[in-house]
Amino acid sequence: MIMEFSDILYKPYFSKEDIIQLLNSDYEQRNLLYKYAAEIKEKYISKTTYFRGLIEYSNICSKDCLYCGIRKSNHNLERYNLSDDEIINAADFAMKNNYGSIVLQGGEIESKNQTERIYKLITKLMEISNNQIGITLSLGEQSFDTYKLWKDAGAKRYLLRIETTNQDLYKRIHPNNKKHDFERRVECLRDLKQIGYQVGTGVMVGLPFQTIDDIASDAMFMRDLDIDMCGMGPYIEHQDTPLYEYRNELLPRVERFNLTLKLIAIMRIMMKDINIAASTAMQAIDKFGREKAIKAGANIIMPNITPGKFRDHYKLYDNKPCTDEEAQDCLNCMEVRITIAGDQIGLNKQGDSIHFLNKEKIVK
Ligand code: 5AD
Ligand code: FES
Repeated sequence: MIMEFSDILYKPYFSKEDIIQLLNSDYEQRNLLYKYAAEIKEKYISKTTYFRGLIEYSNICSKDCLYCGIRKSNHNLERYNLSDDEIINAADFAMKNNYGSIVLQGGEIESKNQTERIYKLITKLMEISNNQIGITLSLGEQSFDTYKLWKDAGAKRYLLRIETTNQDLYKRIHPNNKKHDFERRVECLRDLKQIGYQVGTGVMVGLPFQTIDDIASDAMFMRDLDIDMCGMGPYIEHQDTPLYEYRNELLPRVERFNLTLKLIAIMRIMMKDINIAASTAMQAIDKFGREKAIKAGANIIMPNITPGKFRDHYKLYDNKPCTDEEAQDCLNCMEVRITIAGDQIGLNKQGDSIHFLNKEKIVK
């Protein structure tokens, strides 16, 4: 028997086959999918979009991921590292503009210096905000003790994308060595959960060699891990990276974009009350990419508050938007965008993952 699309869409629990069908939806069906995801969002977490001020504080990275523009072996860019004062100033801007929270993101460095620097920064940020600022870290793989130290200092959330859950594909898009190990990444995600972070992960959509089946498995992985937040974006080729070689074998950009939008909607329906980011990479493909993501179930936007002069150097992929603007321009533009998408803005709120809070309630 062939199932109607709506029979699948309204199921209480999706099988892998169901997810594949949803990912393969045609134009009419996918609009039903987005509409239902928007209803779920309104019902479980309200029509509110939260801001996270994104500070890309350094593009110095010890890793060499084959897709990433700031990979260690790319010598075609200027490396920078904001001073502590510059980071504090950016966070101060976020607070003054009623952003409830910031994301500190940077290239991946594992060292004693880095551990201490970040520890001190978190401590200082908590101090100057009277413990009011929500701090999300996105600093890659670290030891259990480092994660714990940063959590104890006041960071609440951690983003670490799994990138893809197909281990063969993971090997093809990373150098084959201990530093780029799928198992270690999963272990880090487990450590973060155990320590008590709100944990976010996510994947790239439309990678070379990636199949619809892989993306369905990615969705199931995130459900099984019971994550609190997720950020997914289309893969965008970068000319100074090894994966650029496969640029002619990729899905057209608009299809990568549509697949990401479908995945966002599917995650909203599957996990109801998690936080889902409308990633910047969505906007790199479609001028209204983030608004579309919000309409399809996303509830987080991360305006870039890195001082403008550094932004050009944090190019993970080509065509990255807003790299020549200052923080205030980004803010104005984001406010207009959210209102157009029909949401209200969650000002002065940290915007914790409701999923996480609900889990805590059950434990208590
Ligand atoms: N296209 C899209 N996303 C990318 N990232 C890195 N390189 C690319 C690219 N070429 C994403 C990865 C990483 C995050 C910081 O940026 O998913 O986790
Ligand atoms: Fe790994 Fe940038 S080098 S994501």
